[in-house]
Order: sequence, then structure tokens, then C-alpha cells
Amino acid sequence: LDIHKVRKDTRGCHDKLFFDSAGASLSPSVVTDAVAAYLKEEELIGGYRLAELQQDAINGFYSATAQMLGCREDNIALSYNATDAFAKALSSVPLKEGDVIVTTDGDYISNFVAFISLKKKLGIHIIRMNNREDGSIDIKYLDKLLSIQNVALVSVSHVPTSSGVIQDVEGIGKICRRHQVWYMVDACQSVGQMPVDVHKIGCDFLSATGRKFLRGPRGTGFLYVSDRVLESNLSPLFPDMRGALWTGVESYKLVEGARRYELWEYNYANVLGLKEAINYGNKLGWDNIYNYNQSLSAAFRQKLEAIEGVSLYDNGPQLSNIITVRKEGIELDRMKKHLTDHNIYFSVASATNAIIDMPEKGIDWAIRLSPHYFNTAEECEQVCTVLEKL
Ligand SMILES: Cc1ncc(COP(=O)(O)O)c(C=O)c1O
Repeated sequence: LDIHKVRKDTRGCHDKLFFDSAGASLSPSVVTDAVAAYLKEEELIGGYRLAELQQDAINGFYSATAQMLGCREDNIALSYNATDAFAKALSSVPLKEGDVIVTTDGDYISNFVAFISLKKKLGIHIIRMNNREDGSIDIKYLDKLLSIQNVALVSVSHVPTSSGVIQDVEGIGKICRRHQVWYMVDACQSVGQMPVDVHKIGCDFLSATGRKFLRGPRGTGFLYVSDRVLESNLSPLFPDMRGALWTGVESYKLVEGARRYELWEYNYANVLGLKEAINYGNKLGWDNIYNYNQSLSAAFRQKLEAIEGVSLYDNGPQLSNIITVRKEGIELDRMKKHLTDHNIYFSVASATNAIIDMPEKGIDWAIRLSPHYFNTAEECEQVCTVLEKL
């Protein structure tokens, strides 16, 4: 990875210590330049004419995303964000009263809210997979669970929002395939920081957002939809005129491919920006990005842990670039002010968003630092020095 070029391409990284790629990352300049250029054209000729003229460039989003995930273009649907993609996918899974959804302690808050809503409306049950001592998912238990329960869907957040663990989505996928259970992966925090191959994972759906480790614009995301889903003719609860053709007064026909999960209206400036962000990573290589990220964050964790009073809260055999930190005796407001005064950009992970995971760890907040491949070891050291001073 040519870190000098990467930093040159990242206009926002030079005057601050930016450690919030798990929140909303800094885009490379090609992303914002593409968005700005498109908007300027829209100002002059209007959105519809420009979209027509730029059709090929816009379609490049599908090939870029398919290349990243190792699938075909027609397995990809645009979405407004990860939650939108997840909700449309969930709405298409055939569920009835008494069916079980299996998830994890660390699944995303909005995914849990959606499951609870289904519990209220349809009478489904929610079961959480067991964790092993080391924080990973107990795959053997999952296998047993799928043999004895009426499980309709397994759903996992690949990297939870407020904990650094990388879940074994491939191991879970093998079990789901064996039991022929629908399998959804929320890859919102993993896509962009590591290679994500949908065939290796063996999932039916994979949802993601543009603005985090992918470094794309806000208000963008996508959904991967497997051939198994398409062949089974699943579709979202509310397809619109993009996803379906109105064939008669009371009939419609779904379009082929994953685009049945799309709605008609998109902000195409942002779609082009997302395409640029994905292609930027495709060119660098997701393995290169992952290797850089792994060594950066492993060294950072070691240095953080060596600071007196500092504790990290990320349990698991495999950890990502989400690092959750506290310092003994330091209240949240003081911590936030200290980091902000020293020009560090971060987010706060709070127990209100992780009501199972955080109380189990005995905490109600943690500072979330999320370095990415435009960060350097020196920047990590500067953050450590700032924390030492507190
Ligand atoms: C694991 C995970 N899933 C889903 C989401 C939701 O993403 P979005 O806000 O793009 O819908 C987030 C956001 O933080 C997340 O961390």
C-alpha cells in the first residue's frame, strides 16, 4: 500500500487525527470530485437528462461492487444506507407465526428493532447464538439450534458497531447451507476494511453502507442478493415501479435480478461517488487494505493497552479496526473534551445502542477509535500520548 499516495488522495487527513471511519470516514478526493462534477452538470441540464447521458457511468457502480464482493452485477441492488438494504431483504424472507430468527448478542440495534417489530406483528421468536469464552460465536451450538428449532433466518453483524470482533461469517454460512436456512449478513462495518467474498460466506443477503470504511458519500448503500433468493422468487414487501412492471390493474411482474430490491429515485451524484470509492479500494486491493489495517490496529491496541488505566473492550479471536477504549476514573464528558481539544476525531459507543453486549462487559459507554488505511503508526502513537496525559 502506497501510504504517501493514499494520504495525498485524502485531503481531510492532514490537519487532524481522524479515527472515525466506523462512523463516517474521509473520502478520497476522487469521490468528492465525482460528486461535485455531477452536481454541477445537474444544475445545468437537469437530473433526468444527465442520468440518461451518464447511464454507463452510473451502471459502473454495479460492476465495481460485484468485483469487490465476487459476484455478478445482477446480484447487486442500490440502497440508501445499510438499514434500508437490511429492511428490504428482511421483508422478503418468508416468515410466519412461530418461526425463529437466530441472531447474536452484538447484532446492530436497528436489526434488533426490526426483529422485535416482526415479533409483535407476526409472532416470530428471537433466539441469540451462544458466545464462547473468547467472545466468538459457538458454532457447534448454532448447528444444534438449527436441528431442533423451527429456524427461518440466521442474521449476523459481521463486525458489530460497538465491539471489534470479526464474527466467523464463513463458519456460520456453512451451517446455514447445511440446514438450508436463509442467511443475512450485515457487513456495514466490515466492507471497506477487509475482503468480503459473498460466495465464501455463503450468505443469501449482505447489506452495507457507503460512508464508513468504504469511504463513500453519506446516504448510499447496497444489498447483495444471492441466486438462491432470486431463483426462489423472493421480493421485498413493497417493490416499486423500478422493481416491478405493472402488468394489469391488479398484477405486476418482478424485474429479473437484484434490482427488484431497488426503488426508482436515487441521488446519482452520490451513486457515482460510491462507485469511485469502491473502485479506489478495488485498485488498492482489499487484501492489501486488510493487511495494512490488521498490522496498524494490532500495534495500536498493544500501545493503548500499555497505558496505565486504559482498558480495551473488544473480545474475540479475530479483531477488526474498531477499538473500544476507556480510562479508569475518567468520565465520558472529560474524555470527550480531552480528545476533542487534541484534535482527535472519534465516536462514542453507548450502551443504549448495545444493550446486551455492553452491560455484559460491565460498562455503559466506550470511546470508539477506528483507524483506517490512510492513518499511520505515528498518528496512533500521537493518540496514545494524548491518552497518557489524561
Ligand atoms: C453493524 C452496523 N449495521 C448497520 C448500521 C446502520 O448503517 P446505516 O446508518 O447506513 O443504515 C450500522 C451503523 O453504524 C452498523 O454499525
